Amino acid sequence: MRYDHLITSKQLSRAAIETVLDHAAEIDDDQSAFADKHAGRLLGLLFFEPSTRTKLSFETAMKRLGGDVIDLGSVESSSVTKGESLADTIRVIEGYADALVLRHPKQGSATMASEFVDVPLVNAGDGAGHHPTQTMLDLYTIRENAGLDDLTIGIMGDLKYGRTVHSLAYALSKFDARQHFISPDSLALPREVVYDLHQEGASIREHDGLEEILPSLDVLYVTRIQRERFPDEDEYQKVAGEYQIGPDSLAAAADDLTVMHPLPRVDEIAPEIDETDHAAYFEQAHNGVPVRMALLDLLLGETDE
Ligand code: NCD
Repeated sequence: MRYDHLITSKQLSRAAIETVLDHAAEIDDDQSAFADKHAGRLLGLLFFEPSTRTKLSFETAMKRLGGDVIDLGSVESSSVTKGESLADTIRVIEGYADALVLRHPKQGSATMASEFVDVPLVNAGDGAGHHPTQTMLDLYTIRENAGLDDLTIGIMGDLKYGRTVHSLAYALSKFDARQHFISPDSLALPREVVYDLHQEGASIREHDGLEEILPSLDVLYVTRIQRERFPDEDEYQKVAGEYQIGPDSLAAAADDLTVMHPLPRVDEIAPEIDETDHAAYFEQAHNGVPVRMALLDLLLGETDE
């Protein structure tokens, strides 16, 4: 099986998502069985925005498959500072690598870049757009903790600029999940995303507070206010600090509520929650490795192809 570019979770069917999750589970059971699978192959990492988990887990995943990475490194040390376009940079690096991973501040950049390359290109975040590989590890974590059938999920925080939210919502609409979106008005889901979700027949409701729906949730997915995407600092300050989960916030929650966060967190979840059985966000980050191994294995196909 071979996938092409992975740009948004919108492009994936439920069956395609389940193939990735099942393969990740197989890899999770016995990573060593895949240790040499992609020996000699190279993954190109192009990160034009900061990243800790996404970049390092892609690197770890490729190395655990026996392959290696080449890394554009910081934008400051590349020819981008000389004025080279993204299209030119990507066309050059395509010649060095078997697949590419791109993160870029501009929404739509991954779609644009994919038109210039023949090797598989993975969108690791395009501005406030999409982040489909985060969605895969989110779904994997949900499946392990709460199951994907008959799911009621609350997605809270910066739903406007949060690309992990957009990708997750599109994917969950394929699993018939009941999705509750909790945010201040100014950070509500973009109307085009709401429109698309309605078109998909998704069950969605929007709220400005958590209280009324908390007891019904299987999963609460908390997100960071995306400060770097606000047009001005005053707008950020108006909403900063809202929608936090403190030590007492979960009193009315089900005992088996799973709390997730794509990380990094700033102050959205108090450290006291880390010690509770609700917390699944570090497990979620660890799942990035088997899930990205599975994706890369499927994208790269058989070595002798
Ligand atoms: C997210 C991102 O970059 O969109 N981080 C990640 O990849 N785990 C979320 C965020 O930055 O808030």
